[in-house]
Amino acid sequence: MEMTTKMLTIEDIEPEGKTILARVDLNTPVDPKTGKLMDLNRIAEASVTIRDLKNSKVVVASHQGRVGRDDFISLEQHAEALSKYLGYKVKFVDDIFGPTAREQIDSLSDGEVLLLDNLRLAAEENNEFTPADAAKTILVQRLYKHFDACVLDAFPTAHRSCPSIVGFAELLPACGGRLVAKELKALNRILTIAKGLYTTVLGGAKISDRLEAIDTLIENKRADKVLLTGLVANIFLQASGRISDPLGLQDEDRYVRKAEKLLSNYPDIFEMPVDVAVETSGSRLEVAVEDLEPGQKIMDIGSATIDHYSRLIRSSGTVFMSGPPGLFENSAFTKGTEELLRAMASSLGTTIVSGGHLSAALERFGIKGWIDYVSTAGGALVLFLAGKNLPLFEALDKAARRMKK
Ligand code: 3PG
Repeated sequence: MEMTTKMLTIEDIEPEGKTILARVDLNTPVDPKTGKLMDLNRIAEASVTIRDLKNSKVVVASHQGRVGRDDFISLEQHAEALSKYLGYKVKFVDDIFGPTAREQIDSLSDGEVLLLDNLRLAAEENNEFTPADAAKTILVQRLYKHFDACVLDAFPTAHRSCPSIVGFAELLPACGGRLVAKELKALNRILTIAKGLYTTVLGGAKISDRLEAIDTLIENKRADKVLLTGLVANIFLQASGRISDPLGLQDEDRYVRKAEKLLSNYPDIFEMPVDVAVETSGSRLEVAVEDLEPGQKIMDIGSATIDHYSRLIRSSGTVFMSGPPGLFENSAFTKGTEELLRAMASSLGTTIVSGGHLSAALERFGIKGWIDYVSTAGGALVLFLAGKNLPLFEALDKAARRMKK
């Protein structure tokens, strides 16, 4: 299945001398202990588009983390990292659409780059809207008149219809950036060589995007087997009655009901962990799922599960992995993530790995070059592979049609 999106490129919007909003995705895993960025891959990728706008006044915008989590931090460190990749200074303003940000945007000269602060500090950016309503948000209304055009390059945020992704494109000429073009091209190429048996390994902490995509992945023949790890596995373990301790997640009941439905609709597709790793006095302890005690927090998949999943991975035609199997940032719980990624690296099948955490993990284990394609996108890629229409591509498509009229 070839996926195409009509979109304009940077050249189509003739950016020279103009003030351009570049909506990129600099959202990066953050070390919970030090508060430092753990992997600069998305920042490096975003710098390509920004460099290609060098004769413009460029205002860069991105979100970082989720409100209330450890990774919800300001973008000051990102400005420094971006400056390093670009080889010239990126200014930073700790404001988004207030008078300080607007004054700094208006005083930019050609060749200067200004990074706004974390877009999710603005309440509206944490919600999803229709494009028409996104265009009416205060965030978009206060800012759009300061720009001549926008470049949408946040491929990993393609599935969010938040104001910065779909609102500006309603009011300004909009084109795709270099990363969007690169990802689409690479994915289309890799999908033409991908072959069955398709195995999807799902993990990480972002349950809702993954649960939403599973039916479509299966229906579109992109998941003959789904190997469950991470929080999503815990939801399925609950749904199958194998663990009873609630995980304390918002919307947990809804997720469990969805998992129950999936298990009954597709009884032969899902593989669940048989053993897991928990923490006792700072160390790893492996226990069979049935022997978990109340209050024990699952931090990784266990060795028997790793062996079983690794065998399935090595015998697959195509393996797609999204979200880490365990809390690999903590060395006691790296094993599941490392072993499954190593199984992918040594498999003869086509391999695709998705998202910032896994990209950081591959880098750490020194096997990034062994995977056929490493995408910057996490949840967005799962939905993309499932064949869903993503808001960012719809916005680009609409902007391209408008411009051609
Ligand atoms: C991602 O990392 O998947 C994107 O940056 C989107 O982040 P979100 O899932 O918090 O919206």
